[in-house]
Amino acid sequence: MTGKFISFEGGDGAGKSTQLSLLSGDLEALGRRVILTREPGGTRLSEQIRSWVLHESGALCKQAELLLIFAARAQHISEVIRPALLRGDWVLCDRFTDASYAYQGGGRGIPVGLVQQIEAVSTEGVRPDLTLLLDLPVIQGIERSVGRGQGSDRFEEQDLEFKQRVRQAYLDRQSDEPDRIRIINATKSVESVHTQIWDLVSNLIDREDD
Ligand code: TYD
Repeated sequence: MTGKFISFEGGDGAGKSTQLSLLSGDLEALGRRVILTREPGGTRLSEQIRSWVLHESGALCKQAELLLIFAARAQHISEVIRPALLRGDWVLCDRFTDASYAYQGGGRGIPVGLVQQIEAVSTEGVRPDLTLLLDLPVIQGIERSVGRGQGSDRFEEQDLEFKQRVRQAYLDRQSDEPDRIRIINATKSVESVHTQIWDLVSNLIDREDD
């Protein structure tokens, strides 16, 4: 696969959307074809699954939640991500598999080994070349999301402890895979966060022909 795959991760209010569109604009200005997508979602079926997972009002057990998210991901990979990478496009994805380790693993308490098994049957080995973890203290993220005044989903309405476990699970994954997952200090200004991101993406551009 000749394209490059970058995922964006982080808790609520980390500023992923702003940074995704800034990076996408920069890459397009350099003549790269960019696919901007998100998880859960990115295909018609996966977007339907997203609305169940984020807004199902009845009980959704944690195993069903995990399997639905990975079902959405399998479809997204086969329909969008893999074909784009084979064409040589750049894929920028708002969350990917690390989010399942953070939210379903850390947040919901599903053992890491189980998440790994489901990952093995769902992703055909597709993993990001680079994952940008936009990290900031949980309280600061919540303050920012409240300031934005958007409606909350089944994850945003979780308590502080849940969100702290999510952040910790992301940080643990980063220490396990420090080359792929890079921490971005998301407490800084939009410009400064963008510069941190661009420094890392430039390395990927330099290695494009590898
Ligand atoms: P998010 O990416 O924050 O979108 P928005 O900016 O529209 O709120 O929302 C997606 C939610 O889905 C987020 O709260 C985390 C959750 N999620 C999981 O629990 N597991 C996953 O594997 C993924 C991809 C997302």
